[in-house]
Amino acid sequence: MVIKTAEFVKSSGKWQECPEGTIPEYAFIGRSNVGKSSLINGMLNRKDLAKTSGTPGKTQLINHFIINESWYLTDLPGYGYAKVSKVMRRDFEKLINNYILNRNNLVNLFVLVDSRHSPQNIDLEFIQWCGESGVPFSIVFTKADKLKPNVLIKNVEDYKAELHKTWEDLPEIYVTSGEKKTGTEEILSFIHKTNEFLANNSVTFNE
Ligand code: GTP
Ligand code: MG
Repeated sequence: MVIKTAEFVKSSGKWQECPEGTIPEYAFIGRSNVGKSSLINGMLNRKDLAKTSGTPGKTQLINHFIINESWYLTDLPGYGYAKVSKVMRRDFEKLINNYILNRNNLVNLFVLVDSRHSPQNIDLEFIQWCGESGVPFSIVFTKADKLKPNVLIKNVEDYKAELHKTWEDLPEIYVTSGEKKTGTEEILSFIHKTNEFLANNSVTFNE
């Protein structure tokens, strides 16, 4: 997909404050510091559209971007950020969960996991929650440039084996690097095909 335009729309602290949800929306989520904002920038070929940081907890609001004036790409706050208070963490969780369950035009959630680590409980629990809640999602491995190819392959295979303990069918899996822009075309192609499918079937969204 060619990115003709990519514009920041707004930051929202509540799902009710998000922009009108009448066009397809694709959101990026994962632990704090996993590389959500970097991957979004890599996909869109924009250096600093989504704010990134070496310090976890950079993105604390729901950030909407409109792409090609036809679909939303959403950068969500990271979950499980240990350095904020319990109350704040619960507030983040509520914000994220309410957004995911109430956003009618949310077509797919990309759940990002760090390709360098073995499966972490917090991610597995989140994936479990998505599955049980009927939320359509894909899994995206990030920071692939940081690993040697054979280690990367092994980590992805180990992750799949872990998921197979619970799920017979696995979601789509992408292996990416926001830094090197690998895997980004595949994600964009999925979004493009999905948007075409929705348009061809006259799917519309109401608030
Ligand atoms: P929060 O907004 O805090 O939840 O973080 P985030 O998930 O948006 O992560 P962000 O994109 O800000 O990246 C966190 C750190 O990881 C930054 O220092 C990035 O430079 C680094 N990083 C992100 N993606 C990649 C990648 O693909 N490769 C490498 N080498 N570093 C990356
Ligand atoms: Mg971020």
